[in-house]
Amino acid sequence: MLEKPNILFIGAGRMAEAIFSGLNQSDAIGKITISNQSDQTKLAHLKATYKVETGEWQEVLSNHDVVILAMPPAAHPDVLQELSSKVTKHFVITVAAGIGPSILEASLPGLPTAWIMPNTAADIGESMSLFACGEYVKQEHRKVLQTILDAIGESEELSEQQIHDLTAVTGSAPAFVYHFAEALEKSAQSYGLSSEVARKLVVQMIFGSASMLKDGREAGDLRDQVTTPGGATAAGLEVLEKANFTKLLHEAVLAVNDKAAEQAK
Ligand SMILES: NC(=O)c1ccc[n+]([C@@H]2O[C@H](COP(=O)([O-])OP(=O)(O)OC[C@H]3O[C@@H](n4cnc5c(N)ncnc54)[C@H](OP(=O)(O)O)[C@@H]3O)[C@@H](O)[C@H]2O)c1
Repeated sequence: MLEKPNILFIGAGRMAEAIFSGLNQSDAIGKITISNQSDQTKLAHLKATYKVETGEWQEVLSNHDVVILAMPPAAHPDVLQELSSKVTKHFVITVAAGIGPSILEASLPGLPTAWIMPNTAADIGESMSLFACGEYVKQEHRKVLQTILDAIGESEELSEQQIHDLTAVTGSAPAFVYHFAEALEKSAQSYGLSSEVARKLVVQMIFGSASMLKDGREAGDLRDQVTTPGGATAAGLEVLEKANFTKLLHEAVLAVNDKAAEQAK
C-alpha cells in the first residue's frame, strides 16, 4: 500500500458521495476516481463539485490501490466476477448491505477485503458505521480503512455476524427515531402549534438528549434525573412501559433481522 493510496469508487451514489466528500478533507490519501453504471451527467456534476476524477473503472483500476464498491448488493455478483480477473494488489471494500468479507473473499481469494455498514447520517459526517475485516487485511490496510471510516463519522469493528445482527440498531433504528420524532411532532401540534414550531421543539429536544448521552452519561441515570417518582414524567413513562416499550423495540430489532435474513437467501 502506498503512503497516500489512490481510491477508486465503483458506484457514485449517495453513499459514495458522503465518503469522498469527507475524504476530500483528508491529506492521507492520493487521488480519488469515481465511476458508475451509466449516469454520465451525475459523474460530470460530481467532478465539478469535488476533487475527484472520473473514468470507466475497468480502464483506471490498475492506477488505484483501494476499490470501494458503493453500489447496490444486487450489482455485486457481476462486478465481483469482472473484478476477480483484474484485481491484483488491491484492497477491496464494500459498503453494501449484506455483503460481508466472506462473500468478497469467495470471489477475490487471497485479497484484503473489508465491509463497512454506514448509516444515512454519513451524509453529514455523523454515521455510526460498523465494519469487519477479511483474513488478509494488514496494518497498512487498516490505516486507510480508518481514514475512510473517519470521513463519515464514528466506527466500531465487529465480527461479520455481529454486523448482520447489529445493522438493525445502527442502520435501521434511525427510522425508529424519525418515527418517534414524527409522533411527538403530531402530539405537539394537537396543542395548536404550527408544524414548524412543533418540529423545532422536538428536534432540539432530541438533539439535546442525544448530546447528553454522547457526553458519556448513562441513559438510565439521565432518565431518572427527569423522573420524580410518582410525578408527571413517571406517569408518561408508565404508559410507555404498560405498552411494553422496551420489549417492543427489541421485537422491532428482531423483525429487521428476520427480514434481512430472508432477503439474503
Ligand atoms: N445510502 C445509505 O444511507 C446507505 C447506508 C448503508 C449502506 N448502504 C448501501 O450502499 C449501497 C449504495 O447506496 P447509495 O445510497 O449510494 O445508492 P445510490 O444512490 O442508488 O447509488 C448507487 C450507485 O451504484 C451505481 N451502480 C449500480 N449498479 C452498478 C454496476 N453494475 N456497476 C457500477 N455501478 C453501479 C449507480 O450508477 P448509476 O447511477 O449510473 O446507475 C449509482 O452510482 C446500498 O445499496 C446499500 O446497500 C447505503
